[in-house]
Amino acid sequence: MKKIRVIYLFTLILSSVNIWAQYQKDALLYKDPNQSVERRVEDLLSRMTLEEKVMQLNQYTLGRNDNANNMADPINDIPAEIGSLIYFSSNPDLRNQVQKKAVETSRLGIPILFGYDVIHGYRTVYPISLAQACSWNPTLVQQACAVAAQEARMSGVDWTFSPMVDVARDGRWGRVSEGYGEDPYTNAVFGAASIKGYQGNDISGSKNVAACLKHYVGYGASEAGRDYVYTEISRQTLWDTYMLPYEEGVKAGAATLMSCFNDISGTPGTANHYILTEILKKRWGHDGFVVSDWGAIEQLRSQGVAKDRKEAAMKAFNAGVEMDMMNQCYNNHLATLVKEGKVSEELLNDAVKRVLRVKFRLGLFDNPYTPSSTEKERFLLPESLKIAEKLAEESIVLLKNEDNVLPLKNGSKIAVVGPMAKSQWHLLGSWRAHGNAEDAVTIYAGLENEFKNRARLLYASGCDFDGEDKSGFEEAKATARDADVIIACLGEKAQWSGENASRSTIALPSIQEELVAALKETGKPIILLLSSGRPLELNRLEKLSDAMLQVWQPGIAGGNPIAGIIAGRINPSGKLSITFPYSTGQIPIYYNQRKSGRTHQGKYQDIPSTPLYGFAHGLSYTNYEYGDIKISSEKIRKKDKLTAEIAVTNTGGMDGMETVHWFIYDPVSTTSRPVKELKLFEKQLIREGETKVFRFEIDPLRDLGFIDGNGDRFVEAGEYYVMVNDKKVKLEVED
Ligand code: NOJ
Repeated sequence: MKKIRVIYLFTLILSSVNIWAQYQKDALLYKDPNQSVERRVEDLLSRMTLEEKVMQLNQYTLGRNDNANNMADPINDIPAEIGSLIYFSSNPDLRNQVQKKAVETSRLGIPILFGYDVIHGYRTVYPISLAQACSWNPTLVQQACAVAAQEARMSGVDWTFSPMVDVARDGRWGRVSEGYGEDPYTNAVFGAASIKGYQGNDISGSKNVAACLKHYVGYGASEAGRDYVYTEISRQTLWDTYMLPYEEGVKAGAATLMSCFNDISGTPGTANHYILTEILKKRWGHDGFVVSDWGAIEQLRSQGVAKDRKEAAMKAFNAGVEMDMMNQCYNNHLATLVKEGKVSEELLNDAVKRVLRVKFRLGLFDNPYTPSSTEKERFLLPESLKIAEKLAEESIVLLKNEDNVLPLKNGSKIAVVGPMAKSQWHLLGSWRAHGNAEDAVTIYAGLENEFKNRARLLYASGCDFDGEDKSGFEEAKATARDADVIIACLGEKAQWSGENASRSTIALPSIQEELVAALKETGKPIILLLSSGRPLELNRLEKLSDAMLQVWQPGIAGGNPIAGIIAGRINPSGKLSITFPYSTGQIPIYYNQRKSGRTHQGKYQDIPSTPLYGFAHGLSYTNYEYGDIKISSEKIRKKDKLTAEIAVTNTGGMDGMETVHWFIYDPVSTTSRPVKELKLFEKQLIREGETKVFRFEIDPLRDLGFIDGNGDRFVEAGEYYVMVNDKKVKLEVED
């Protein structure tokens, strides 16, 4: 009997130990890295209280905020349960302290997600996005974004609010600098490349960050280029112009999206169920989360669709915004809204799961802290600088080169003038993250490096960026008289573009134009270097100059490639990603406009109706001869595939990189279509005397088809044209 009792007792102890072990295991399931993300998410969610869930959906700031448009919270009592913080410091220590609080003192130990605006580089600032697109080199952009991700993640940032893929056709809008120009396909390709660069193959990598596609959707249509305002976008235009870059970005794996500030034809992006839920989550199946833009939930009140912050929280949440950036609308009202049945628990759970999913995917539960490193170990690595320099080089566009005044001959005496010549700060552009002006190579320093012992540089600033002070003109003229050629470095201050930086004209301030007019009196050839965050109105300057080089805001490594192009060490290969209007009055003007009923009429009476420089314009120091387009078949059925080819020969005296843009044109369709649409681009190195073949594999539905106002793609039987430059070929699609 005693023996039986002992055995019984022993079995009891054993099974309790087992139950305890099992309990322990279950208890920690979400902390077990061997479990799938979905199981961990479900497990964690099942343990959370309503309040804990709500806290995951809020974002505050931490550290210094240097964006004048965003008012920061003081650095104080960050709740340990907060979902996310915007991290303004470039040192991981502060992050780690706050993270420790979250991981060690909150009940469930959920790590915080640290986000930041890493837009065109973190410390190694590379050219603004609008310029990047002029490189037509997505691989290079991907590499630059990988550098930004490495610098950011090693500094304590897990998540960047980038890329911006808002198609923008109004240069007055300051944010035109932040996207990839006027064309949907171009934005789609570069957006996807940058997502791949930021995220790598796996966002848990110690040098990768989660991307955030923004601002979903249509922000670029801001009326008259003013910021934060209404946008009038029909469903047809929404789909054929604005949605493609988002759809492709989601396909490329963007972990998150940011909803837009703008009111889309009566329904603000922050409260837009159609775009956020019906399309993004249901149709495209995105399983990450959407963050609001800064203060945008509360702004539903000023936009006139919510009477108070509580209603704003309800509308935004029910529409599909999972995280509240800086409003405290969710943490103040969401729990009550759930209790009142105005927000369903199911939707709340779904939102929390989305946020947790991204945190698990980033590996934050397993590696919540950023390893310490020195600035030297994480910033400005030689390879990173090379990429920044190469990207600046390829994004510079030679707009004009009369009588081949460029490249400059050796032995020239060069007068360098203009407010941009010695500026470091303004080369960086807006959204410079932790960019440091002292890291930047100025145009003047670049010229010095390039022309060492080969030319003499003379300098006079001439004037400031704006204002009326012409007292420097005489000195500039005297300097120019003493030289063989003038390089006038003009442009915009960094803060003239970016967020909340609209301008009523895209011309440079008249003082800069007057300086060039004064220099013209010397009779010396004038080369203009133009640095800006937007397309410029150049018709007056064009008449005064011999050559014009659009250098954009090229980042810290811009000075050397600019000088390399002037000296002929580098053959320019950039082409415009956005139309340069003849004057501001032509806006909106873009290459893929719809057809007019009367092409021979409807012109402006006072100015030309064509732009000064069209989309994809860009000169080279060599010549390229294009053969005819050859197609594998002139007739195809809708389901067939087709190949088009074009041979391009470098007949000039220098190796060069040439980009071929493939356009299509559909003369007759049920829905009116643009005069041409870009479907593919490719850049190749073509050596002097060499011929390269460019190929376009045409999928009729994807490339010849069109999208309707419901987002459905269709292709119709009929005639189509495939076009490259002035070459075109007809083909017939049958049912
Ligand atoms: C407002 C801007 O619109 C957005 O692009 C940015 O990411 C956020 N502020 C955060 O700084």
